[in-house]
Amino acid sequence: MDALSCIRGRRSIRNYKDTAVERSLIEEVIAEAALAPSWKNTQVTRYLVIDDKAKINEIAEKFTTCFSYNGGTIAKAPMLVAVTALKGRSGVEKDGSFTTKREASWLMFDAGCAVQTFCLAAYEKGLGTVIMGIFDDGISEYLGIPEDRELVNLICVGYADEEPAAPRRKSVEDLVSYFE
Ligand SMILES: Cc1cc2nc3c(=O)[nH]c(=O)nc-3n(C[C@H](O)[C@H](O)[C@H](O)COP(=O)(O)O)c2cc1C
Repeated sequence: MDALSCIRGRRSIRNYKDTAVERSLIEEVIAEAALAPSWKNTQVTRYLVIDDKAKINEIAEKFTTCFSYNGGTIAKAPMLVAVTALKGRSGVEKDGSFTTKREASWLMFDAGCAVQTFCLAAYEKGLGTVIMGIFDDGISEYLGIPEDRELVNLICVGYADEEPAAPRRKSVEDLVSYFE
């Protein structure tokens, strides 16, 4: 698949077939995501894979009370990936000071670059994904996320059981401006 077909064809998938996702395949996806750019190549993004259906259902039930729509999606996924990032590295100097006025928020930027690369690589390998930013706070403790990491988002992973149309995009005219 060429890069533009991958960028254009990837969609957020919220309905999955029952088929399990092999761990070897998700490791291939993670190997590609590792090629994403990061702040001074700090590579802070980590992936906690959950492929035990009972645990996925428990997460869907207990940790999506703030937005139950996500619980419905998670319950249909054969795999859930919790994306975490190591704190205190992106945008942070060796002496602990912040490099820029954006302070530690570069962590989110790095994770975002990695997550989009992850989703594109997954799509190229035949997998559907959806990024999720809305879930209950208690999930970090449930997953045992260490203090030195931040839980950034969840990604459902599985074989797509739908072919959604692309939500409308803004035109280049809307997006571009020139400083002259
Ligand atoms: C940071 C971020 C958070 C998102 N959170 C959710 C979410 O909680 N639930 C959900 O169903 N989709 C979520 N999405 C998916 C977006 O709704 C989706 O990317 C957007 O509608 C465009 O559709 P497409 O991915 O098919 O192009 C999120 C996407 C991003 C980038």
